[in-house]
Amino acid sequence: MSLHERCPIICFDDLGDERGKLVVIEGNESIPFEIKRVFYIYGSDATVIRGQHANRESEFVLVNVAGRSKVRITDGEEEILVELNKPMIGVYIPPMVWKDMYDFSPDSVLLVLASTHYDGDEYIRDYDTYIQEIRKNQKGSPS
Ligand code: TYD
Repeated sequence: MSLHERCPIICFDDLGDERGKLVVIEGNESIPFEIKRVFYIYGSDATVIRGQHANRESEFVLVNVAGRSKVRITDGEEEILVELNKPMIGVYIPPMVWKDMYDFSPDSVLLVLASTHYDGDEYIRDYDTYIQEIRKNQKGSPS
C-alpha cells in the first residue's frame, strides 16, 4: 500500500447552517480509532518545525481547526506533503511513519486526536533509529 493510501485525507461532516459551522469527529466512525487523547498546538510560527518523530503504537488524526500548517510524512522511502487549511479536513497518520509539522500561520490551532494515552517511550525521536526500526520490522514481516 502506498504512503498516500496509508495516510488518507479525511473530510468530516460539516453540519453548518445559518448559525455557523459545526464539524463532527467520532472515534471509530469518522476516524479509524477510538480517541483516547486530544491535544492541540498553537503559538508556533513559520520558523518552527514540530513533530520530528515517529510513534511505535499511536495513530493520529491532525486537523487545523484554525489557520493552517503543513505536514510532511515519510516512511523513509516515500514522502507526502499535506496542507491543513480547513477545519473539516484531517490527515490520518498510522504508527511507524515519520512526521514533521511546519509553516504554521500565526492563527494556527492544530488539533491532534490520538489513539493512545501519552507514553514517551513509544516515540522515536531520532531519524536514524527510526530507519533502523523500519528495516528491522520489514525483515521480520512475512513477504
Ligand atoms: P512533543 O512531542 O515534542 O510535541 P510535538 O511533537 O507536537 O512537537 O511534546 C512536547 C512536550 O509535551 C514533551 O515534553 C512531551 C509532552 N507531551 C505530553 O506530556 N503529553 C502529550 O500528549 C504530548 C503530545 C506531549
